[in-house]
Amino acid sequence: MTDLALAIVHHLLVFGLAAVLAAELALMRPAAISPQTVRLLGRFDAAYGLLALAILAAGFIRVWYGAKGADFYLANHAFWAKIIAFGIVGLLSIEPTRRIAAWQKGTKADAAFVPPLAEIGRLRRLLLIEIHVFALIPIFAAAMARGVGHTAG
Ligand code: HEM
Repeated sequence: MTDLALAIVHHLLVFGLAAVLAAELALMRPAAISPQTVRLLGRFDAAYGLLALAILAAGFIRVWYGAKGADFYLANHAFWAKIIAFGIVGLLSIEPTRRIAAWQKGTKADAAFVPPLAEIGRLRRLLLIEIHVFALIPIFAAAMARGVGHTAG
């Protein structure tokens, strides 16, 4: 029962994160940007941070309290590849988060503030890279769940 509940929570959080990433990408376009969009991006980015933390917590709880036991995962290369990919996604999200936070300050100081177009383009590229690395995570997850990548011994 615990395993099932953890799996449900993990999947819902993961789909939530994917939705937030897609929403951020849709808003992060020179043609779409406006003071309202900047405020929305701030809210999505806050949700993104909370979801990422919750996934990390739910994921590690699954490792330790899931049906297969921690050794099943810790001795699996696909598990570590998944963690590394998750870490890279986290690192790639630092710059967009910082810029989005700076834009929030900009809109507070000046209601008509709109971020520079070149910066929007740069962050859009970063988000696209982030989404592609993110796509690797379920691939590693499916492999690790089936013991593919398990070290011998
Ligand atoms: C955004 C990040 C993540 C995504 C997209 C993701 C995705 C998935 C998916 C799709 C599965 C189901 C695999 C299957 O049954 O075929 C899964 C299972 C699992 N994930 Fe994650 N995950 C993420 C983060 C994490 C983290 C950070 C951890 C651990 C620290 C973790 C631990 C687990 C565990 C233990 C399972 C259970 C595998 C099994 O059934 O044996 N996940 N994940």
